[in-house]
Amino acid sequence: TYVVTENCIRCKYMDCVEVCPVDCFYAGENMLVINPDECIDCGVCEPECPAEAIFPDSDDRATAWAEANADYSKTWPNITRKGTPPADADEWKDKPGKGAMLSP
Ligand code: SF4
Ligand code: F3S
Repeated sequence: TYVVTENCIRCKYMDCVEVCPVDCFYAGENMLVINPDECIDCGVCEPECPAEAIFPDSDDRATAWAEANADYSKTWPNITRKGTPPADADEWKDKPGKGAMLSP
């Protein structure tokens, strides 16, 4: 499966949802996650993310976020269309240490 990581927090560009063939993204207030049971590992979302937030679960950068994706995707609503990203999304892009800012 692929995993959305903390780089998504407060960026939430949503380009990823437009390309996913199985619509397996779920939306929290300031980040998205992927349902690991639905993701077919196609990889097309990874290069679409302007914040480089998506990694395959085989990548070390995905490890800390795999459980959050599995858990939150059970309760957050499904999202299939790109909405309007946060007005300050670009300011948060590439900022480290956003993990604690997740709003579930
Ligand atoms: Fe969707 Fe493919 Fe990305 Fe999985 S890897 S979330 S199936 S676009
Ligand atoms: Fe997040 Fe990137 Fe998608 S910032 S919403 S994973 S395009």
